[in-house]
Amino acid sequence: MNKPPYTIRNADWDDDRLALKHVRRVVFMQEQGVPEALEWDEWDAAARHFLAEDAQGHPIGTARLLPDGHIGRMAVLEFWRRRGIGTAMMRHVLAAARETGFGHVELAAQTHALKFYERFGFVAHGDEFMDAGIPHRTMRLEL
Ligand SMILES: CC(C)(COP(=O)(O)OP(=O)(O)OC[C@H]1O[C@@H](n2cnc3c(N)ncnc32)[C@H](O)[C@@H]1OP(=O)(O)O)[C@@H](O)C(=O)NCCC(=O)NCCS
Repeated sequence: MNKPPYTIRNADWDDDRLALKHVRRVVFMQEQGVPEALEWDEWDAAARHFLAEDAQGHPIGTARLLPDGHIGRMAVLEFWRRRGIGTAMMRHVLAAARETGFGHVELAAQTHALKFYERFGFVAHGDEFMDAGIPHRTMRLEL
């Protein structure tokens, strides 16, 4: 099967907020049941955002990088999963983190996604914990 085309780009919370929010609303709030009050936080205005778009420019994936080197809100719409988009987004985020000069990055991984992050070299630390009702582990990658 041919892979449908998509692009990954840097996004901006002011200009791309509707697109970023659409993906996060569908994936985290509707699919995973994360409460709206937990989905949007004060970090969105300060974070660097990344957007995956289909050939028509519709938003299909998001990620963000916080000023302290935390990666989060990694999401791909269900229809588009397992086609390499999450991998392409993570590579884009890690390139941005290296360019910024971070020595390492961290994230809170939903436990079902540990294997996805391990592929990039992320290592899990500490005990499992609950956030928004979902089990997580802290993961770290030396850059
Ligand atoms: C996690 C997520 C972003 C991955 O995006 P994706 O576009 O499907 O990822 P890729 O296609 O690049 O996957 C690459 C590899 O990661 C692994 N992988 C991806 N999702 C996985 C999952 N849920 N469980 C186990 N392995 C997974 C697979 O090995 C996959 O390779 P394969 O398809 O050849 O087997 C996506 O599943 C998602 O949005 N999930 C819902 C939101 C979420 O849980 N986000 C993570 C928050 S910490």
